[in-house]
Amino acid sequence: MLEYSNRLSAKEYCELRSAVGWQQIIEEQAQSGIEHSDFIIACRDNNGIVGCARVFWDKGYIAYLADVMVKPEYQKQGIGKRMVNECISFIDRQLKDGWRIKIMIVSAKGKEPFYEKFGFEIRPNINDGAGMQVWRTR
Ligand SMILES: CC(C)(COP(=O)(O)OP(=O)(O)OC[C@H]1O[C@@H](n2cnc3c(N)ncnc32)[C@H](O)[C@@H]1OP(=O)(O)O)[C@@H](O)C(=O)NCCC(=O)NCCS
Repeated sequence: MLEYSNRLSAKEYCELRSAVGWQQIIEEQAQSGIEHSDFIIACRDNNGIVGCARVFWDKGYIAYLADVMVKPEYQKQGIGKRMVNECISFIDRQLKDGWRIKIMIVSAKGKEPFYEKFGFEIRPNINDGAGMQVWRTR
């Protein structure tokens, strides 16, 4: 049976990264990221971790949805959708009268249609430029 909770270990997080084929980050850095997330949702079954998603929010108008991962053998069962909806609900609960919060996501290649179902708009579009990124390493 699937169970959802708001806790995630660095080990589980790294296991998920590896399961979805993402480049690994060291456990210390994973732990720091988890500790400083504003909201985390994780899904498990009897065999362990199945998926996760997390949100950072600046306590103002910008939030970032990151690390939406579902193990390949559990995909297409509504788990990703449930976790993203939990993240969006977290943000909705922060809204005060007259507030607007923009949730950003950088979609993995080909996953845009998954996010469009929640109302995310693809960039660039007629009004907005492309999302951009730069890596810094040491
Ligand atoms: C993207 C991902 C999180 C989706 O999780 P999932 O549990 O398989 O998705 P769900 O089963 O909840 O699907 C929800 C809806 O999105 C659709 N969907 C899921 N993946 C899709 C895709 N790649 N393209 C189009 N639609 C997709 C489903 O058909 C479903 O539609 P419905 O609500 O109309 O039935 C999962 O495929 C994943 O972890 N991929 C590898 C890691 C990754 O790339 N994450 C995204 C990082 S930005």
